[in-house]
Amino acid sequence: MTPRTPLIAGNWKMFKTGREAVETAKALAEKVQTVSGVDVMIAPAFTALSLVSEALKETNIALGAQNLHWEMEGAFTGEISAPMLKAAGCSHVIIGHSERRQYFGETDETVNRRIKAALEHDLVPVFCIGETETEREAEETFSVLDKQIKKGLEGFSFGDLDKLVIAYEPVWAIGTGKTATTEQAQEVHGFIRSMIGDHYGDTLAKAVRILYGGSVKPDNASALMAMPDVDGALVGGASLDAETFSRIVRF
Ligand code: PGA
Repeated sequence: MTPRTPLIAGNWKMFKTGREAVETAKALAEKVQTVSGVDVMIAPAFTALSLVSEALKETNIALGAQNLHWEMEGAFTGEISAPMLKAAGCSHVIIGHSERRQYFGETDETVNRRIKAALEHDLVPVFCIGETETEREAEETFSVLDKQIKKGLEGFSFGDLDKLVIAYEPVWAIGTGKTATTEQAQEVHGFIRSMIGDHYGDTLAKAVRILYGGSVKPDNASALMAMPDVDGALVGGASLDAETFSRIVRF
């Protein structure tokens, strides 16, 4: 297993046409080409993947998708499979983002199937978990995360998960400008790592990268990244602009 190289990932959500995505990807590649010791990934919309894949050739930026279906192919109108993502040049895929859970009926069970499909097809799953504001206020943060992790990773053994990346994204911090404090982030990341340790052993717990997501910006990235259990960031809004995102990459 590799040591925990920080991963800074950009989730472009439903922004940017193919052409716009290529422009930003190229500008970003130029700005981060000399950066070392950090993995960088961007996840444009499905329609931009192939184009951006071309643009990222011979750069140090990996390509991710924002979702996938668990079947390889079939009559599933509107869905995209793991082999299709691989063919489009993806190495990563975001799974179980809170917007998918909130607006598109994603459940822990479907998240589990999607993670399985990603792993079977050699895609790095960026498995998103996080509590809502109501859950945090009711002091349910840890029990919510415990359930999301247990169900999301049900049926996997230690050996299946060496590629896994976890993204902790408190729902109340996404797109709101509210960031978890560094202490809040560290507390939860520490909890997630110890949970992984309890279920899969120390080796995986030490190797798994846990990203923080939710209003990460250039001015809060370095403080978050200084926390011992924060291994990177999943960035939404601030990843859309090459200059801003490159400053986060250089945290
Ligand atoms: P944000 O989004 O950085 O705009 O808060 C993060 C995410 O949804 O992954």
